[in-house]
Formats: sequence, structure tokens, C-alpha cells
Amino acid sequence: MADETPGAYTLPTEREHPFDPNAGLTRLRDTAPVTRLASPDGHLGWLVTKLSTGRKVLTDPRFSARQELLHFPVRPLIPQRPEPARPGWLSRMDPPEHTKYRELIAAEFSTRRLSGLEPRATELAECLLDEIELAGPPADLVEAYALPIAPLVIGELLGVPEGEREEVQCHTQALTRPATGLDEAVEIIEALRGYVRALVGRKRATPGDDALTGLAASGRLTDEELANIGTLLLVTGHETAVQMIALGVYALLYHPGQLDKFTANPASADRAVEELIRYLAVVETGILRAALEDVELDGTLIKRGETVTVWISTANRDPEVFEDPDTLRLERTASGHLSFGYGIHQCVGQQLARLELRVAYACLFNRFPGLRLAVAADEVPLRAGAAVHGIESLPVTW
Ligand code: HEM
Repeated sequence: MADETPGAYTLPTEREHPFDPNAGLTRLRDTAPVTRLASPDGHLGWLVTKLSTGRKVLTDPRFSARQELLHFPVRPLIPQRPEPARPGWLSRMDPPEHTKYRELIAAEFSTRRLSGLEPRATELAECLLDEIELAGPPADLVEAYALPIAPLVIGELLGVPEGEREEVQCHTQALTRPATGLDEAVEIIEALRGYVRALVGRKRATPGDDALTGLAASGRLTDEELANIGTLLLVTGHETAVQMIALGVYALLYHPGQLDKFTANPASADRAVEELIRYLAVVETGILRAALEDVELDGTLIKRGETVTVWISTANRDPEVFEDPDTLRLERTASGHLSFGYGIHQCVGQQLARLELRVAYACLFNRFPGLRLAVAADEVPLRAGAAVHGIESLPVTW
């Protein structure tokens, strides 16, 4: 059993092609799927690039998600100080704390609530498309469509009043910008937390039919816990969905044959959306866990305290799991990918995300059947160094 792989690897995340994982990381998956990885803080941890090994990490309780134990190899989506997660911030805690919050939040993302949200999400998408159509071509679909949808939908679900969603969006966007440093990020989170705390007060006084009201009414959460949960949901539900909408539209325009299949088979939209989620794998931070004890992982000894980073985009292209993995094939069964994580922390917002994407793609291509890129296919500017892979703008015409 090897306990050391020579030569620590510093993570190159740049994508040479807009939709494919970094070529060096892909090579690692095929040659050294568990390999040494250095973090900027000097910690020597591990990188896992293969799907089956990643799943082992994410389902093994000897690996912890506790924030104070993790060493980040690249900027996380939400930069935080290396201290225990605040009450309610479930993504960075282990059971039993995690279990309580997870159950309460999952109950608010029920099928009933989500199906009630679909007509409203469609209405919101149609409103944005009205504006785009009125302004006439060309349009930047990142600015005019992808960016506004996510905060509108999560705002609707949580019960953020319409007039306040833009301000929330400014905060979440600033937080996830690569140039935002730790101190500024902590300030932004504090501002959002203050906003959500006040909103909880208003929900207690005037209950609505929304998730925040539901969580407050459970009687099992303090205002501080509610403020943290609301903040976490606002932030995590934003950037991932924005870039999945933008990059997904780009990928469909880039592959006209696949776009034809998408528009010809509305009944298969769920399957198509799942394949886009697998293929694009927008989360570019990896999924981090820290070993609570020595663990043997596929023949490699991970020592207690070491951080393991599971890389999503390479795992999703694992040829042992998906046939012809580098090809976008909307008709395939793409389930089993790691885009939403795996195990107990698997994305609690995944059904909301699927709904949002289905609505966003369908409304757009229904409205503009002749939609096409307004620049050459390889001239769409990619975002560099961001926690969520995506594009800066998407110039289109029709
Ligand atoms: C396409 C869009 C999305 C992607 C790709 C995505 C991705 C992920 C991933 C990879 C994880 C696992 C993190 C880990 O195991 O450490 C996760 C967890 C989570 N996501 Fe998402 N997400 C998306 C949309 C959303 C939305 C819309 C929401 C909320 C409204 C959301 C809320 C959360 C929360 C709260 C967790 C933590 C769950 C837990 O720890 O139990 N996500 N997401």
C-alpha cells in the first residue's frame, strides 16, 4: 500500500475547451486517480479524479465535512475562516448536527412546494424573454437571462419579497467573484445574514407560504440558525444555477444536432437536463473531506487530518461509468454523476435546480427557435479561476 505519491500536484483548473475538464486532470484520472495535492496554505492532501473512488470518500463516515478540518486547494464558492461552521450551516458539518438541519430543509424542498413553483418560474422566465424580445437582437443571455432567473426562483421559494431580490443578488454575485478576498467575503456573508435575520422576524409576524416561513414555523430552529440556513441557500442556489443556465444554452448552441433533439422531444427534457448537468460539471472547487482517522483508499493510505478533494468534472467523464463520456448525448441516462455530490451531503437543492434549468432552456428555445450565437463558437469568453465554471457573456441573435 503506497502512502506517498511523489511530487505534490498543484491544481490547474483551467479548461482548454469550454465544456471539458482540464486535460492534465483527465490524464491523472486515467493514470493516478488518487494523487498528492498541495493547498496554498502548505497542507499536503490528496486529489481523487475517478468516480468510483470519489463515491467511496463521500459515503465513508471516516471522512468529515467539518469546515475547521478542511484545507482548500482552490478558492471555495463561499470563502470562510477555518473555524467550526455556524449553527445551521449544514454543508460544513457532520452528523448528528447535519442530520437535524438536513431533514428540516429537505421538508421545505418538497415535491408539493416545487410543483407549485414551476408555473411561477415559467412566468418569471417569460417576463425576461419579453424584455429581451422587445429590446431586439443581439442580446447577452448571461446578463439578460441566466443572471436574473436564479435569484428570482430561489427568492420565490424562500419568500424574499420581489423588490429586495436585486439587492440579495448583488451580494451573492460579489461573494462568488474570484477577486473577492476572505475579509470581504466574510463581510458580505455578515450582511446577508443580517438581512435574512430581519426577514425571519417579518415572517414570524406575517407568515407566508414559503420555505423560510416553514422553517421558522418548525419551532426547532433559533433565529441565528434560520439566518445561517437562509444565507447558505441564497448563496449556493445562485451561482451554480446561473452558470448551468448560461453554459447549458452555450453547449446546446455549440452542438446544433443535440439542440434539435432537445426541441423535438419536450417529453425527454428531464433526461436532457441531467446529461447537461453531468457533461458541464460546473462546480470547479472539488468536494472536500478530511480524514478523521487513517483510511486505506484504493490502495493508498490517507492519514488522519489529511484533506481529500474529489474532482467532479473528471469523475463525470469516467469511461468506466459512462460510455463515450466526452460526448454530449442528451438521450443517455446520465444519473450517477457527481455534479450534485454524493452521500449525505448530496445537493439538497437539486430538484429545484433541475426544475429551474428545464424551465429556462424550454422557455428560451420555444420563444426563439432560430436562436444562434452572435460570435464564433470558440469566441465566447470563459470565466477564469472561478469556483463555478462558466462564461462571462453569451452573445446571441435570432
Ligand atoms: C445546478 C445547480 C447546482 C449544483 C451543480 C450544485 C452542486 C452541489 C454540490 C456538488 C453539493 C455537495 C457539496 C458537498 O458534498 O460538500 C451541493 C450541496 C448543497 N447544495 Fe447544491 N448545487 C446546485 C444547486 C443548488 C440550489 C438551487 C440550492 C438551494 C436552493 C443548493 C443548495 C445546496 C445545499 C444547502 C447543499 C449542502 C447540502 C448538505 O450539506 O447536506 N444547491 N450542491
